[in-house]
Amino acid sequence: MFERELRELEEKHLLRHIISRDLSQGPVITINKKKYLNFSSNDYLGLSNNPAVVQAVEDSLQRHAFGSGASRLLAGGSILHKKLEERIARFKGTESALIFNSGYSANTGIIPSITSEADAIFSDELNHASLIDGCRLSRAKTMIYRHRDMTHLQTLMKKTKARRKLVITDSVFSMDGDLAPLADIYEICRLQGAILYMDDAHGTGVLGRGRGAFAHFKIKPETWIIQMGTFSKAFGAFGAFVAGSEDVIKWISNTARSFLFSTALPSCVIAAALTGLRLVERDPSMVKRLWSNRERLFEGLKSIGYNDAVSMTPILTVRTTSLSKALRLSKYLYEKGIYVPAIRPPTVCEPRLRITITAAHTEKHIDTF
Ligand SMILES: Cc1ncc(COP(=O)(O)O)c(C=O)c1O
Repeated sequence: MFERELRELEEKHLLRHIISRDLSQGPVITINKKKYLNFSSNDYLGLSNNPAVVQAVEDSLQRHAFGSGASRLLAGGSILHKKLEERIARFKGTESALIFNSGYSANTGIIPSITSEADAIFSDELNHASLIDGCRLSRAKTMIYRHRDMTHLQTLMKKTKARRKLVITDSVFSMDGDLAPLADIYEICRLQGAILYMDDAHGTGVLGRGRGAFAHFKIKPETWIIQMGTFSKAFGAFGAFVAGSEDVIKWISNTARSFLFSTALPSCVIAAALTGLRLVERDPSMVKRLWSNRERLFEGLKSIGYNDAVSMTPILTVRTTSLSKALRLSKYLYEKGIYVPAIRPPTVCEPRLRITITAAHTEKHIDTF
């Protein structure tokens, strides 16, 4: 079964393989007992290895054990779930928040829950796959606007007579590292009476001194703004959240199928997220180090002729003219002890190396790269 399909993928250089690390992930990883500098992880602040995060998981295991038994609406959650929701709502300045099991399940659950066939969705063409799949699961009419193109967005919005309009965007686009024009999107939504749904997976813990994209753009929470983010990236943990007004969160917790019909995250995962969040709130030096590392890497790449003019964040790219060139470059670096994955279709149209820098990289790591 699938032999022909697999052969075709192989011939097109599209067959991917999963590497297995010997130990934990971080700026240095070990594969088959060989060390590699790692530039592939979204662990932006290096918190997945932070001793306080690891300790919180161990302590929580002692108190709460592991499995959570059932979905939260069925079996309830631990007091840690509730605490994390209160903390993340306070962190984002919203009335309320709800935990989801992952960013993927948040986007695919929330978008269908807040739209119906009478509604229209406007989605940036480079939005993350989970947002695209959320739109596909929704019964609303979805219109795709050209990447960051506000004129196109407005043209599409003017054409529709839908009951409710929902504009969906990543804050940081995960494969290019560029930012959505959120101030413009905010204004367009305000004037059109639309809902703004923002995926801040790569902005939370990174932008706005760690508070995320809206803090960066100085946008205050409104009842018509819904923001989601993840605990799996800068917080070094796992899982995701949605933050917004009390009514919106209540509605989502009653209707999002990925929340209703999926077992809750184990408490120790929540304990890790709580600790990551606390560290981001208390120690601004991590975010500062992330950005100074980002500058060092950006300048270094520029000095050898790779000028990524698009990225504005710790996600940097080296674009190549062909897929085979991206794969060759990634293989060459791997042989030199540097792990940077080549990104290929269907994840992106234009092949590239996707490089992520973190606060945990040292200057030596960056200069070696
Ligand atoms: C923009 C964006 N949204 C959502 C997700 C999904 O998050 P998770 O990995 O927690 O499922 C990702 C993860 O890669 C992402 O980049």
